[in-house]
Amino acid sequence: MKKNLGSAGELFPQSVFIVASYDDDGVPNAMNVAWGGECTRNEICINIGDHKTTDNILARSAFTVAPADAAHVVEADYFGMATGRKTNKAEKSGLTFVKSEFVDAPVIEEFPLTMECTVKEVQDWGGEKRFIGKIVNTQVDESMLDADGDVDFDKMRPLIYDSTHRVYRVVGDVVGGAWDAGKALM
Ligand SMILES: Cc1cc2nc3c(=O)[nH]c(=O)nc-3n(C[C@H](O)[C@H](O)[C@H](O)COP(=O)(O)O)c2cc1C
Repeated sequence: MKKNLGSAGELFPQSVFIVASYDDDGVPNAMNVAWGGECTRNEICINIGDHKTTDNILARSAFTVAPADAAHVVEADYFGMATGRKTNKAEKSGLTFVKSEFVDAPVIEEFPLTMECTVKEVQDWGGEKRFIGKIVNTQVDESMLDADGDVDFDKMRPLIYDSTHRVYRVVGDVVGGAWDAGKALM
């Protein structure tokens, strides 16, 4: 028996993107974004409502995206609860915000991997916005690389958002190779 759940999506996993930006006065901010993803290998799409971050990205045409890691679950969740319109979240979090070398937005040093983006396109729908960011540079802590120089997600332990249960999880086991497991049926 199947049960109909209505129109809400049950897509899993969702990322936990920490989107950082500067406001007009240069005050750094960060928000938690689950409704986003990689639309091509060099572009990120984020869907956001009316937030401080929205104003900031429109003002500066730039933002950075750091997948939150398990070591920073408290800060990541805080960035999704408080608003930069009322409080300086950068200060309160205790994390280190430094200007990106490549775009007009901050990089949060403690997150192991950050993609630095310029705004390629802004789409409007009903007061919400979809920003398409062009990735200008990705930086990663060398300690997160494997022997081949690739990002090691077992070391990094990026968070996954389970929106059905409203909890954060971590990446699990490898169960098959891509463009490989299917060979059994070719
Ligand atoms: C797990 C989680 C995921 C979230 N995903 C989104 C999202 O994809 N889009 C959005 O507009 N808000 C999302 N939010 C809410 C914002 O992060 C929140 O409203 C935040 O306070 C906005 O910060 P700002 O006003 O400083 O920019 C999410 C919050 C949490 C806790």
